[in-house]
Amino acid sequence: MTGDSGSDGDRVRRRRRRERKPAAGGGGRLVRAKGRKDSSREWLQRQLSDPYVAEAKRLGYRSRAAFKLIEIDDKYKLLKSGMRVVDLGAAPGGWCQVARERVGERGQVVGLDLLELEPLPGVEILQGDMNEPETVDRLRARLGGPADAVLSDMAPNATGHKRTDQLRVLAVVEAALDFAERVLAPGGMFLAKTMQSGGTGELAARLKREFRQVRYVKPPASRSASAETYVLATGYRGPQSTGAPPESD
Ligand SMILES: C[S@@+](CC[C@H](N)C(=O)[O-])C[C@H]1O[C@@H](n2cnc3c(N)ncnc32)[C@H](O)[C@@H]1O
Repeated sequence: MTGDSGSDGDRVRRRRRRERKPAAGGGGRLVRAKGRKDSSREWLQRQLSDPYVAEAKRLGYRSRAAFKLIEIDDKYKLLKSGMRVVDLGAAPGGWCQVARERVGERGQVVGLDLLELEPLPGVEILQGDMNEPETVDRLRARLGGPADAVLSDMAPNATGHKRTDQLRVLAVVEAALDFAERVLAPGGMFLAKTMQSGGTGELAARLKREFRQVRYVKPPASRSASAETYVLATGYRGPQSTGAPPESD
């Protein structure tokens, strides 16, 4: 008999001893709960001392993230009166509010999120997954015509493993770009949250092929400790630049 280390009775006694023994480090659950408490406390502390949070509250923006779009738009003058804007990952709605202010009554803003969004005056809201093909169809049915801008502030939940998180962020940006290609008008723009600050790799090459200008921007409202940055691609060259066969409507 190989690989057997005793009778059934021995095995049961060993298992009971193991079960009585406390977990190393005094109990993983306790450590995890403490870690969670510490990070919630840090988050709360950061929120309380963050001037952007206070300003968002004062001005009635639903998120501090609203200031990231304000700062990017103030610098690059992207959103203009009458534009048609799609906001992917819109909840709780800060970017939609800013887009609405800037495109005005003549423009159109459609916000999409997995989560339910509280109604916002002048903003059309769609609940759904950006990755589902039927979501693109639903959104196109809502839009009065091709979009002038596709914005994406989406990010996957972080795992804490740097490389995994980078790959997941890239996958979200690629999916947002797939989406954008199906709704953008030639000359349109694409702004998406990413973690990559350089212009290398397949995604960067694709963006360069499809847009006249590609920039990576980090607005002051984006915390310096965070790796997030935004890719801003302007001057969409149209569906022929994507290499995909034209869609029949
Ligand atoms: C950082 S929040 C956006 C904040 C927003 N820009 C604002 O100012 O209020 C990111 C949002 O993306 C949404 N999201 C993530 N993946 C999505 C998907 N596949 N389809 C639709 N929304 C998604 C999340 O539900 C989340 O509400």
